[in-house]
Amino acid sequence: MSVPSTSTTRVAIVGGGPAGLMLSHLLHIAGIESVVLERRARRDIETTHRAGILERDSVRLLVDSGVSDRVLTDGDRHGGIYLRFGGESHHIDFDALTGATVWLYPQTDVFTDLADARDRDGGDVRFGVSDLEVRDVLDTPTVAFTDSDGVAQEITAEIVVGADGSRSICRDLVADRRQYFREYPFAWFGILCEAPKSSPELIYARSDRGFALISQRTESVQRMYFQCDPTTDPSAWSDAQIWEELQTRLAGRDDFSLVEGTVIDKSVLPFRSFVQTPMRHGQLLLAGDAGHTVPPTGAKGLNLALADVRVLAEVLEQALGKNDPDALDTYSDRVLDRVWRAQNFSYWMTTMLHRSADSSDFDERRQLGELATLVASDAGKTYLAEGYTGWPA
Ligand code: PHB
Repeated sequence: MSVPSTSTTRVAIVGGGPAGLMLSHLLHIAGIESVVLERRARRDIETTHRAGILERDSVRLLVDSGVSDRVLTDGDRHGGIYLRFGGESHHIDFDALTGATVWLYPQTDVFTDLADARDRDGGDVRFGVSDLEVRDVLDTPTVAFTDSDGVAQEITAEIVVGADGSRSICRDLVADRRQYFREYPFAWFGILCEAPKSSPELIYARSDRGFALISQRTESVQRMYFQCDPTTDPSAWSDAQIWEELQTRLAGRDDFSLVEGTVIDKSVLPFRSFVQTPMRHGQLLLAGDAGHTVPPTGAKGLNLALADVRVLAEVLEQALGKNDPDALDTYSDRVLDRVWRAQNFSYWMTTMLHRSADSSDFDERRQLGELATLVASDAGKTYLAEGYTGWPA
């Protein structure tokens, strides 16, 4: 083994997804140097389909911090969603209920905007690193890795941030960790298809055969999902079978019609709720999916990650910029408050709309009772709208 090439930075960020890149961007604005290390190639991340809804404050963060205003020009402002059950759609008008809206803007575009912004500002972002290892997080953290040219490197930092996603290696370094899990007996079958929009806004549908979601991407490409068994092999499903399943779940007594098209991508998405506490151990802090995962119902994952790093940037600015290391102590409790609200919201949306294999007739009727109560009540709809558009910081 050759001697690794060594360097220093103030904050070493493990993970170059939206959380890691946004943090690096915010630290740059605060005059704090960072290095971002990402296992995957940039192109690989840009071509992995993820969720697409941004809360109001996520949009503000992207625009106001100068990342890009492409979300406002290329994204789609959505004033609400539809809940569909019993063969009818019910509009939840976020704008009228709360004055807030959300934006349909895929996570892959958020990632591209952030990676471009870091490039533009001369940020140090290394994609395609391997053999990454984090050491000495209680003292002087060091991140060892092999760079994309095969050269061994070591970076010593004052702080390490684990923004390394749901398969985080950083989270395992938290010595006194406690993990909270909830597994669900189903997953989502996701497709991209070439078709015009069937609906101007998202439709979250509950049916006797289970949940379905109609989302959009562009005028000519749409994103849709339906609840499936976690062991489903997407390649075993023909286009005809997929459309029949979606049509059955969206069928109704109104004039809604689901427009079909060629399926250009299909995959099965994992589905679970997870939180690890605390989100800090010594000089290591966790952000985004490394610390918590939500099921995709309610689209909280990316928004929660951005909310984490907004707080984390503040805390690091206090600790490193203003020499107040006690600020680090506040991070975990500050972000976990929102994390648990989002866990509850995602769990609630999930259980209200999905069907379990062991659902009894009672469970089915009760679920319809809950949905009917919700859409008949301004208080109920406002509760949903507040959660979906995002609680204020
Ligand atoms: C998506 O468009 O991919 C999407 C939207 C809303 C969700 C989940 C996924 O709750």
